[in-house]
Amino acid sequence: MEYRQISTLSHVVMWLLLSHTCYGTESDVMCLRKIKKSLKDPIGYLASSWNFSNIVEGSICTFSGVECWHPDENKVLNLRLSNMGLEGQFPSGLENCTSMTGLDLSNNNLSGLIPADICTRRIHYVTTLDLSSNHFSGGIPLDMGNCSYLNALSLQHNQLNGSIPQTLSQLSRLRSLNVAYNSLTGLIPILNPNISANFTNNRVRYMQLIFWSNSFPLIWPLFVSKQFHASLRRKSVFCGVVSSYFD
Ligand SMILES: *[C@@H]1O[C@H](CO)[C@@H](O)[C@H](O)[C@H]1NC(C)=O
Ligand SMILES: *[C@@H]1O[C@H](CO)[C@@H](O)[C@H](O)[C@H]1NC(C)=O
Ligand SMILES: *[C@@H]1O[C@H](CO)[C@@H](O)[C@H](O)[C@H]1NC(C)=O
Ligand SMILES: *[C@@H]1O[C@H](CO)[C@@H](O)[C@H](O)[C@H]1NC(C)=O
Ligand SMILES: *[C@@H]1O[C@H](CO)[C@@H](O)[C@H](O)[C@H]1NC(C)=O
Ligand SMILES: *[C@@H]1O[C@H](CO)[C@@H](O)[C@H](O)[C@H]1NC(C)=O
Ligand SMILES: *[C@@H]1O[C@H](CO)[C@@H](O)[C@H](O)[C@H]1NC(C)=O
Repeated sequence: MEYRQISTLSHVVMWLLLSHTCYGTESDVMCLRKIKKSLKDPIGYLASSWNFSNIVEGSICTFSGVECWHPDENKVLNLRLSNMGLEGQFPSGLENCTSMTGLDLSNNNLSGLIPADICTRRIHYVTTLDLSSNHFSGGIPLDMGNCSYLNALSLQHNQLNGSIPQTLSQLSRLRSLNVAYNSLTGLIPILNPNISANFTNNRVRYMQLIFWSNSFPLIWPLFVSKQFHASLRRKSVFCGVVSSYFD
């Protein structure tokens, strides 16, 4: 109890000191500092534009790729870092951009794994996530199903392998999913029928649909074909209908 009070008091004192002397400790500023530090920036976009030497409210809103909720407040709305030649792993620090709704890291040279805690710990509130055209490898994390606000997920043109996690079916707001041009395998989970999904150039296949005839199940495996891509929307409605029939 006593420790707690002292600790709270020291936090308050620290907060007072920090908030009056140094805007740079503010959460979203911290977020961008950490991101800049964790990425390699061979072309120098971030080096030239993300200058933390004289931060006041609204400073970060002029950084390239940073969109704020209000131009005079250091609160990141979207981060659009597409096509900047960035290298390294998925950036750290994003958990401090607590109001961020969109993250676009597409068309860079990022590699390594998509973090296993991407949604619960890092970018929980994003509605759009674009990691396409990088060199991300390994699996799509199960935790992707915890980004419950996600509308659009773009993972195409990476080196992702393993199967598409069933947890994606928890994403009730998801309207578009693109995982084309990866090395994914296994069954495609049953997703919201209205979703526009693109599985081109993987080795995935649809759920086996089971039809009952005279009480004998006929198992009808559907493999992804070119023709199938063209009519994906219609087919996934079909899958949904069949699955709800068995619910
Ligand atoms: C940044 O996020 C971490 C982890 O959530 C937290 O402990 C830390 O206090 C945050 N920093 C700021 C300046 O908000
Ligand atoms: C950052 O801005 C300060 C002035 O606020 C300037 O002196 C410094 O050269 C800038 N740094 C870079 C890398 O542009
Ligand atoms: C990505 O990085 C590799 C070296 O790691 C380099 O050879 C390649 O040219 C880079 N590609 C792009 C598009 O920047
Ligand atoms: C993340 O989702 C899984 C189910 O996929 C669930 O068991 C877990 O509790 C969720 N974690 C959080 C922190 O919401
Ligand atoms: C995915 O690829 C990595 C190498 O990048 C490999 O170690 C791992 O076993 C692969 N996983 C699956 C499920 O194929
Ligand atoms: C699909 O969209 C239609 C209207 O476009 C809507 O009525 C229906 O509830 C949606 N279904 C799901 C599962 O979201
Ligand atoms: C699927 O995605 C790939 C890669 O983004 C794209 O080239 C292709 O046109 C898409 N296919 C459909 C049917 O949208």
